[in-house]
Amino acid sequence: MTQKARLYSGMQPSADSLQIGNYIGALLQWRDMQDTYDAFFSVVDLHALTQPNDPAELREKTRRTAAQYIAAGIEPSRSTLYVQSHVRAHAELAWILSTITGFGEAGRMTQFKDKSQRYGADATSVGLFTYPVLMAADILLYQTHVVPVGDDQKQHVELTRDLAERFNARYGETFRVPEPVIQAETARIYDLQNPSAKMSKSAESHAGVLWLLDDVDVTAKKIMRAVTDNDGVVAYDREGKPGVSNLLTIYAALTGRQIPSIEDEYAGRGYGDFKKGLRDVVVAEFEPVRARALELLDDPAELDRVLAVNAEKAAAVADETLSTVYDRVGLLRRA
Ligand code: AMP
Ligand code: TRP
Repeated sequence: MTQKARLYSGMQPSADSLQIGNYIGALLQWRDMQDTYDAFFSVVDLHALTQPNDPAELREKTRRTAAQYIAAGIEPSRSTLYVQSHVRAHAELAWILSTITGFGEAGRMTQFKDKSQRYGADATSVGLFTYPVLMAADILLYQTHVVPVGDDQKQHVELTRDLAERFNARYGETFRVPEPVIQAETARIYDLQNPSAKMSKSAESHAGVLWLLDDVDVTAKKIMRAVTDNDGVVAYDREGKPGVSNLLTIYAALTGRQIPSIEDEYAGRGYGDFKKGLRDVVVAEFEPVRARALELLDDPAELDRVLAVNAEKAAAVADETLSTVYDRVGLLRRA
């Protein structure tokens, strides 16, 4: 039996390609953590249904997201990489947890408040409202110790902890209470054209988004056109020089170098040289990842097979938790 602590994280299949923020802020961390933890990584397709989706496109985005996890170094023979909807227990536990979640409690989730305000009450589904409860089910099914997530998901992990404690208090020890591991500020990447906004898969304009699966020429051009400032000094100053600071963050994250050493290297050389240097770093990093992802997508049957094997591993763990939950809450089991 493995003695490693369990880790759980996931991402929505909400775009054809992941962007460099997902890569630096999530995938690189996940890749490193799979050595230390018994890691479960899901492509959360049920969560993606809370946004409008073309069915064929959703299927394709789900495969593409999984392929990019693998291409970035998540090893499906070591980590349990699977598709959320392949394990029925997620939706089932979400229902049970929804019965112990307060209406007001769910209504206080800031992501829900933001989205429902943006889209209006008529376009806001009950699914969007219960989204964090499904996320809690994802985490609690696996008796998870740690949940690496971005800042914006911290509140959802707090809700998960509250629900685990409430359930345990009401029905007896059932769930491990998970700890969030919040992504470092240094792993946050901003839009290259609008460096005060976080880079996002769902950005309205793609001009400032570096897609993992883009042609490398396109990526190179976007870097050369990144917004900077007028003082011409390669220096980190998040408030005063957000554009240059963001480029420095990317440079440091992909090379493992410290920002001052990069500032020194480009002292007195101007932004053109600096951007060319960064372009070479990003292109060298992306090229093999992109090639591997496209190779995996060339053989969807094999990719689906790997996902099925891992879904079975995940289901074995999840079903055990769900079965205990059904007993605890008093559901009569089918003979
Ligand atoms: P999302 O694309 O919003 O579904 O995010 C999936 C994962 O990628 C989450 O763990 C985020 O924290 C991470 N992520 C998304 N965008 C960025 C970004 N601009 N910088 C750093 N991490 C990000
Ligand atoms: N809601 C998360 C996000 O948008 C994705 C997610 C779903 C998740 N289930 C999870 C993350 C469980 C960590 C653990 O980024």
